[in-house]
Amino acid sequence: MRILIVGGGAREDALSWRLAASPSCEALFHAPGNAGTAARGVNWDQVSATDARTIGRRAREEQIDFVVLGPETAIAAGVGDRCREAGIAVFGPGRNAGRLETSKVFAKRFMERHQIPTARFKVVHNIEQAKRALEHWRGGAVVKADGLAAGKGVVVCDDAAPALALLTAWYEYNTVPGGGHDVVIEERLSGREVSVFAISDGRAMVPFAAACDYKRAGDDDEGPNTGGMGAYSPPAGFPENLLDIVREGVIAPTLRGLLAEGEEYRGVLYCGMMMTDKGPIVIEFNARFGDPETQVLVPRARGDFARYLRSAADGALEIDAATWSEEACVGVVLASSRYPFENTQLAGLPADLGLPAGVTAFWGPSSREGDTVSSPGGRVLTVTASGRDLAVARARAYEAIGELKTRFPPGTPLAYRSDIARL
Ligand code: AMP
Ligand code: GLY
Repeated sequence: MRILIVGGGAREDALSWRLAASPSCEALFHAPGNAGTAARGVNWDQVSATDARTIGRRAREEQIDFVVLGPETAIAAGVGDRCREAGIAVFGPGRNAGRLETSKVFAKRFMERHQIPTARFKVVHNIEQAKRALEHWRGGAVVKADGLAAGKGVVVCDDAAPALALLTAWYEYNTVPGGGHDVVIEERLSGREVSVFAISDGRAMVPFAAACDYKRAGDDDEGPNTGGMGAYSPPAGFPENLLDIVREGVIAPTLRGLLAEGEEYRGVLYCGMMMTDKGPIVIEFNARFGDPETQVLVPRARGDFARYLRSAADGALEIDAATWSEEACVGVVLASSRYPFENTQLAGLPADLGLPAGVTAFWGPSSREGDTVSSPGGRVLTVTASGRDLAVARARAYEAIGELKTRFPPGTPLAYRSDIARL
């Protein structure tokens, strides 16, 4: 198979790494790819992950057999729809079904229609409706802008007053993140969060793995929200039968709902779950692999991963094409030191990171010139390590980071959390 991976972050580097090791992968292409993927195949480095037209055209010209969508922005831009129109198999939903992620209002209403457990909510379009919705509100409130807002659209509030203040500012200055007017206000839940991943061929949807991620910038969950500063898999401290619980309570009604609405969902469904006193509740759906969760999932995959994803794209899932090892994997994100407030450009990083066995690093957006790598900053690198249990994997990951730092130019401004997978 000639495979095209859409996207250029560490998630796509991890997918590329795993797909390259699959027996059925003949050649790899990336749009736009990064310093890591450049070593494994061709980067269409001038092609943006959201340029559906160019991706569809080039995929045809280069006789791509199979496209794997990375970021939600590519799904929202209709890259999957374009490639399918061109007769190419695609792993990742079309724009319509992708609304499970790209529209919070669509997702909440879908969950309500199909009795999928989710927090109580109201949808508002203007400040008057927001005031009315919050008038008799009791307890914490979470405010969620409808559209894609790169992690800036969700604000967790202790009670109604800060939620109203926030909505007043958004509506007064026309600054609802994502650029729309619709906002979901929902009940604040408490419990531990876990991400469960299911693969779907349109007719069957099967949970295959779970992970925990760390969204705040600083240790002990202090500081601002980020795209994700680390992750580990499998999750610790959850019921043994977590996947079965989520399959029954969430995946089954979701699939029934999609089928009832005439949607053929081919790709991965990421269920962001909160384990509450009342059982598992969905706090968000994503229509793609997680970043950085993918970086800790794919090192656990065995078998022909390319065939596994392709079978889902073809509507005939071969569930045994891949299996998941019992080994633990821990991933720590190295970010430029002022992330998420600003990105600091980095240059002169070594392309050959000289990592020991069992440790793999995945590059975020970056480019390679000769033996060095430059990065626009942000989430620069995810360092992952595997081991027989989380403690071993964690120790390996941090030891590797310690060594890696001595290989970076002195004073390279990188920051990372020191408590990933510390249980
Ligand atoms: P989302 O983009 O919907 O995943 O929200 C981002 C983060 O906000 C989640 O990972 C949770 O930590 C938090 N969050 C979202 N919804 C709720 C909720 N109903 N109750 C408590 N925390 C929430
Ligand atoms: N790690 C969170 C996400 O991928 O959305």
